[in-house]
Amino acid sequence: MTDLDPNLAALKGRRVVLGVSGGIAAYKAVEVCRLLVDAGAHVSPILTDDAQRFIGALTFTALASEPAKTSLFGDPTDPIPHTRLGQGAHLVIVAPATAKLIGKVTAGISDDLLTATLLATTAPVLLAPAMHTEMWEHPAVVDNVKTLTERGVTFVGPDAGHLAGGDEGPGRLTTPEAIVRAAAEVLARGHDLAGTRVIVTAGGTREPIDPVRFVGNRSSGKMGHAIADAAARRGAAVTLITTSALAAESSVEIVSVTTAEEMYDAVVSRFAEQDAVVMAAAVADFRPKVIAGQKIKKHDGPPEIVLEPTPDILATLGERKEHQVLVGFAAETEHVRDHAAAKLAAKKVDLMVANDVSAPGSGFEVDTNQAVLLDSNGRAEELPLQSKTDLADAVLDRVRKALAHRGEERS
Ligand code: PMT
Repeated sequence: MTDLDPNLAALKGRRVVLGVSGGIAAYKAVEVCRLLVDAGAHVSPILTDDAQRFIGALTFTALASEPAKTSLFGDPTDPIPHTRLGQGAHLVIVAPATAKLIGKVTAGISDDLLTATLLATTAPVLLAPAMHTEMWEHPAVVDNVKTLTERGVTFVGPDAGHLAGGDEGPGRLTTPEAIVRAAAEVLARGHDLAGTRVIVTAGGTREPIDPVRFVGNRSSGKMGHAIADAAARRGAAVTLITTSALAAESSVEIVSVTTAEEMYDAVVSRFAEQDAVVMAAAVADFRPKVIAGQKIKKHDGPPEIVLEPTPDILATLGERKEHQVLVGFAAETEHVRDHAAAKLAAKKVDLMVANDVSAPGSGFEVDTNQAVLLDSNGRAEELPLQSKTDLADAVLDRVRKALAHRGEERS
């Protein structure tokens, strides 16, 4: 990564407060500081007392754009540092963010310069958590992360990997590069989905034939997970209803399901409180009418499997929608626009993302996708083959516009 990296352009000339709280990963914040400065940001470091047990303020002072600060008090040239830093910041990052720091921010406690600055800012906040797995998975921390996400705070990481003391698991600070990239994304996009609730579905449903066999499809969940992650980075409170075991951004609430029926129940029961639903899942259209209680024996010969339709989740939402923006995906192998337009009308969705799943590099399992966006006003927009992450942001740009339009109509 260099200062010429176009993905980091949003950092150039922006004032970034880099908070460092007290964990062993604090030494990695030095690299975050250097990368931010390289990308052209004006970096003001703040270290907590605990951070200084792991790393010296002088190291940050040597690399950053202004001397590192460690206290609310004692500098006659800077009598109110938390308001100067908080009000002047375009972005506040805390890396590493410990369980204690996350808890204090959630509770609104301001007992040192970093937490006071976090209360004194209206800039977007990016937290990079680092702690032991047991702490990261503790209900108190899980609740705090959820609350902060709903308030519009963005989380990046943590990753799974080696932890202090030889332990292993989720809780490791994500890489400095990932933190700086997330910072650039927050600044580039702003927090344009903050305050919105979004359901995303992902993966292919499995419809059981017997206890060991199922009717399924090739969906990996990559497309849906990319949308959930992008929406979370843009500040939405995201519920991801998925059949996939892929990871997701830490702030995303994951609901694991297997069958179309389970996905139906999970989506429909949460629908009323959502602002938008994006159905990227490949939901089976048919399921075996009868599920054998025991494994069907080979020596009994090929079974005759009678199929019945599954509930159509998207069509149900189309019938019930009030204020919600509905996005469907159409997986097609021919007459892509026509088939997708027919589904858009039949299921009463606002936006249909039509992908040709037989085209190279597009559709199932791969990391890229090519789509045509069709809207309910008959407009069609052909997008290039691009990463699923970029397609996710393109879809969410349309969701944001539709939400803004709805907001104007209602006011
Ligand atoms: O998961 P990946 O490997 O990344 O692959 C991505 C993808 C190809 C699965 C994704 O891009 C995609 O196209 N998802 C939709 C697949 C699909 O089921 O398409 P469809 O044309 O059969 O259905 C149209 C829409 O109705 C979809 O939004 C689907 O979620 C929804 N549906 C379908 C059937 C059903 N019973 N209920 C539904 O809600």
